[in-house]
Amino acid sequence: MYTPYNQIFENNKKWVAEKLSLDSNFFNELNAGQDPNYLYIGCSDSRVTAEEIMGVAPGEVFVHRNIANMVNNIDLNVMSVINYAVKHLQVKDIIVCGHYGCGGVKASMEAKDLGILNPWLRCIRDVFRMHKDELFGIHDEKDRFNKLVELNVREQVINIVKTSAVQESYLNKGYPIVHGWVFDMSTGLIKDLNIDFNKKLRLIAEVYNLGLDKI
Ligand code: CO
Repeated sequence: MYTPYNQIFENNKKWVAEKLSLDSNFFNELNAGQDPNYLYIGCSDSRVTAEEIMGVAPGEVFVHRNIANMVNNIDLNVMSVINYAVKHLQVKDIIVCGHYGCGGVKASMEAKDLGILNPWLRCIRDVFRMHKDELFGIHDEKDRFNKLVELNVREQVINIVKTSAVQESYLNKGYPIVHGWVFDMSTGLIKDLNIDFNKKLRLIAEVYNLGLDKI
C-alpha cells in the first residue's frame, strides 16, 4: 500500500475533523499536557504501531521504538526515555513489545556482516548465546526464530529491571510493573509473556542490587 505524500495532509485534516466531531475539546485537552500511564518500548517495524494495537488514544502511552525493541544499558536514548517516564511521568506500567517475524532478530541469526548494525544486533546474539542450549534444541527454524523473539523480549525486560530508576520507584511506590509482550501480526493479537515482575526483580537483585535495601 502506498499513500502519496500530499495525501498525508488531506488525511491529517480529515483526522482533525473526525476528532472534533466526537469531542470539540479534544485538541485543547491534548495541548494541555500529557499524563500517560504506560511506557511502550517496541520495534521500529512499520507494521507494529503502539497506540493502534493497544486501542489507546494520543496522550495515553509514552513510546520508544528501535530495531528489535532493545534496551541497551549504554544507549542514552532508551535510558533517557525510561528515566523520564519513571521519574517524571510516573508511568505505572512499562511494556516491552516484540513481534514475530522481526527482521532485526532474524538478521541476528544469520552469518552475515551487517556493518553499522553489527553492534546493535550483537546484543541479540548475546541473548542467543545465553539461551543457546534451549534454542539449538528447537529443530524447526521458524519455531526457533519465534522463541528467540520471546527470549529477546524477556531479556530486555530484565535490562529495564536493572535500572536504578525502576528499582527505586518500584520499591518505594509499587510501580512501575514491567511486562513482556509479543505481537503476532498473523492474527493481530498481543501475547502476554506473563513475566512475574516481582520474582524477576528479586532474582535480578542477586547481581544487580544498586544498594536499595528493601530488595
Ligand atoms: Co522488528
